[in-house]
Amino acid sequence: MAKSSEESPSRRTFMMVVIGLISTVIGIALAVPILGAVLNPLFKKRDIVWTKLGKISDLNLKPLVPKFVPVYFRVKEGWSVNTLPRQVVVVKQVNGDLLFFSNQCTHLGCPLHWIPARQKFLCPCHGGMFNITGQVVGGPPPRPLYQWVHKMEGNNVYIQNKFKDNPKDRGI
Ligand code: FES
Repeated sequence: MAKSSEESPSRRTFMMVVIGLISTVIGIALAVPILGAVLNPLFKKRDIVWTKLGKISDLNLKPLVPKFVPVYFRVKEGWSVNTLPRQVVVVKQVNGDLLFFSNQCTHLGCPLHWIPARQKFLCPCHGGMFNITGQVVGGPPPRPLYQWVHKMEGNNVYIQNKFKDNPKDRGI
């Protein structure tokens, strides 16, 4: 006759394994949403914000003479709010239109310099060159200069930390 009050060692081991598995599944089910909530900000895109560049009349723009203007975007990234210093290159065209270029070379992102004698933007890294309208005129850059998204409100110009045709469509 079998003993009802004593379990065999193999039955006890089996029960321990089943309880262990159930505990693991419950633990994972509880941990996944909590981890998701904690880590989610890390994988979010950078916020897109508007920042005032200033009054156009204060920039003293001359036709075809680029003006490098610093701009500071306050953006939320993950759990923190950061200040991103950037440069806007404002170019007044002969007809009065304004262009707002990034100063970053479209090859690997080095900062550009304006060379007045050559009327070109020059990249010091690999010799990339752009003309006053942002078109590539030499070197390895694969595309014209990026232009900042901007808007005018009266005499004030506002810039977004985003390029007009950024293929990644995220904050800069
Ligand atoms: S980063 Fe400008 S040419 Fe390479």
